[in-house]
Amino acid sequence: MMEKANNWQSTADRILARVVAVQMQADEGAPVRDLVSTDEANRVLHHSLLAIMRHRAVLDWCIDRVAARDVRPRLRRVLRWGLCQLLYMESLPPAVAVDTCVRFVKRRHDVREAGFVNAVMRRLADAGRERLLADVAREAPPHVRLELGEALYRRWAARFPGDELERLAHLCLVPAPVIVRLRRGAPMPQLECLTPVVPPPWAQEEMLWSCLDAAAFFRSPEHARSDFYIQDPATLLAPRLLAVRPGERVGDLCAAPGGKALALAEALGSVSGLFCLDRSLHRIRLVLENFAPSGGCHAVVGDAAMPPFPPRSFDAVLLDVPCSNTGVLRRRPDVRWRFSSLALAELVALQGGILRGTADLVRPGGRLVYSTCSIEPEENGAQVRRFLAERGDYLLDRDEEVLPGPDHDGAYAALLRRQG
Ligand SMILES: C[S@@+](CC[C@H](N)C(=O)[O-])C[C@H]1O[C@@H](n2cnc3c(N)ncnc32)[C@H](O)[C@@H]1O
Repeated sequence: MMEKANNWQSTADRILARVVAVQMQADEGAPVRDLVSTDEANRVLHHSLLAIMRHRAVLDWCIDRVAARDVRPRLRRVLRWGLCQLLYMESLPPAVAVDTCVRFVKRRHDVREAGFVNAVMRRLADAGRERLLADVAREAPPHVRLELGEALYRRWAARFPGDELERLAHLCLVPAPVIVRLRRGAPMPQLECLTPVVPPPWAQEEMLWSCLDAAAFFRSPEHARSDFYIQDPATLLAPRLLAVRPGERVGDLCAAPGGKALALAEALGSVSGLFCLDRSLHRIRLVLENFAPSGGCHAVVGDAAMPPFPPRSFDAVLLDVPCSNTGVLRRRPDVRWRFSSLALAELVALQGGILRGTADLVRPGGRLVYSTCSIEPEENGAQVRRFLAERGDYLLDRDEEVLPGPDHDGAYAALLRRQG
């Protein structure tokens, strides 16, 4: 028993130190997803970070209620981790969670601060999980209870009726499964760690699986052979709408890391007519890595708002623009705290510039699909309507907004046809 407690303690010590370091970087603007997706990230660290990011509002509300004074950011990071163990992780005995936090602060900071952390953690541990969560349900403001940043809460509350808002917010708190898509031509997998997923209406012809044991999947020969691409079903909406055909010249002009480009290449049956552009050199390298098993692709670093291609270069263009990511909160929980009207306005301007900059690249009679993984109307339907008002030579064929569901993320895609 004693030995088990010591193991917990030393594991908890290591995890807390890493989590606090990563939280600091996240506070400085690095998205959590990028910080945890490194080789050194282990499963527990990953889960702790995502849980803290998901539940930040509730964690802070509980901490502030019992703290007798303002909580310094460096102590708050430790307390968030400790309380997250008590409320949502439950794998660590409460006494170990309290002790880990106190020892960490004593070692890193000073004894007085450790005393403060001890007092807060003890009060939280004494109250216990059930009572703390009942207090949240009864007394916390709705944006805290639903774990949404205030700006995002105000928008969604104005748009979605009460029940739908609750449903959507709760859905966005459920960790997303790892979904893998079998590449065309790859053999049927015989893996116990995969269970088939019923594809959504826009991806009926795809073979999708949910990964029950990601570690076993990543060790499998099927993964080593790149038989699969890890891809939420919502990301298939845009390539399906573009419906490219063999022999076409296709531009994917916000291409990295390349999930949609791979789906386009499969439909084309070849990579020779596919041109992938992205503004980021680092991210275009990811496209090349993802295309390595298929023999590479044309990959270009450039700005889609001023693209390095002559007019009428393509039969079909995919524009999967940078966006606020509000359709993918399950996978990127920190997005809910980063969302702001100012950031949204900047993104809308960037997206508009990319749309305007690429419109001439489509040949008359060709197609352009504009897509996002946002569910905000300004980035989706309103953006497309503004474009159509400016460009009389384009018509909207159809568009579709998918809200996040239990089996897929949220997404938007519009199919635009150039007349002529
Ligand atoms: C939503 S991601 C694309 C995801 C990609 N379509 C896929 O399926 O893997 C948006 C991409 O746009 C790129 N980007 C942002 N601004 C850009 C610009 N002005 N021109 C080209 N690419 C840009 C980003 O680097 C990012 O890789």
